[in-house]
Amino acid sequence: MEVNRLTGVFGAEILVDDVRRLDDVGFAELRRLVCEHEVVVIPHQSLDVSEQVTLSRRFGPAGPVPFIEPSPDHPEVIKVLKEASDGDAFNFGGAWHSDFSFQPEPPSFTLLFTIDIPPYGGDTLWSSMTAAWKHLGADRRAELSAITAVHTARDAYSRKMQPLHSGLSGMNIVCDDAANDAESHPLVVTHPETGRQVLFFNRAYVRDLLGVDAERVPALLDWLHSYTTDARFTLRHRWSPGDLVIWDNRSTQHYALNDYAGFRRELHRTTVAGARPAA
Ligand code: SIN
Repeated sequence: MEVNRLTGVFGAEILVDDVRRLDDVGFAELRRLVCEHEVVVIPHQSLDVSEQVTLSRRFGPAGPVPFIEPSPDHPEVIKVLKEASDGDAFNFGGAWHSDFSFQPEPPSFTLLFTIDIPPYGGDTLWSSMTAAWKHLGADRRAELSAITAVHTARDAYSRKMQPLHSGLSGMNIVCDDAANDAESHPLVVTHPETGRQVLFFNRAYVRDLLGVDAERVPALLDWLHSYTTDARFTLRHRWSPGDLVIWDNRSTQHYALNDYAGFRRELHRTTVAGARPAA
């Protein structure tokens, strides 16, 4: 495999003839590279839905998919789809987040494969939570290490959000009261495969912090959001047909840009089950 780094911080392009044909040694190397580089772009691939499921299962079993009705014949696959006629009010993934971090065991990896992309726009951005941690000073590290983050899908999938999701004609997203549940995870976690420290934060789902004076919480949430999504920790990908992107959900946040009104965009997403994040 040829590996070309995409930024000075994280992300890599991996050149491989056919990701479906990797033997066990090749696959183990791919998994290692995803953990190391956090986001990998594998261009010029061909994957039907079943082949994507097969590849995804090599990383591990599928994680549960709440609120979003999966592809009818493939319950492990979400069609991330905005039709040309859907307008620009909302797009799936259009806020900085890490997939389903409100779950007790959030997904480890996400695989996203292009089906239909707009002629321009619809890029995806990632930010490295490993780099964000690395650049903190000792005092901030000590302060953040004592904090627990409260993750909830309340402001993403509770009933009040239904009108927004219903604007996507090609996706069936069903908001319900389960979105009000909350799950606590340490703000600073140890990545289970690399052993690196990571800021496990995203503003979409982290709505409260424990272990800090209540009056400081709103300002600290705002600071964490702007710090962790600072341009120096980010990578932006312009999709091309045949692109497969695999990211480590445990050490990144991502954001799907909504700047392609009037064009169709479809990608297939699978998420791989993860473990409870540990400090
Ligand atoms: C997602 O948040 O999983 C979707 C990302 C994208 O569509 O680029």
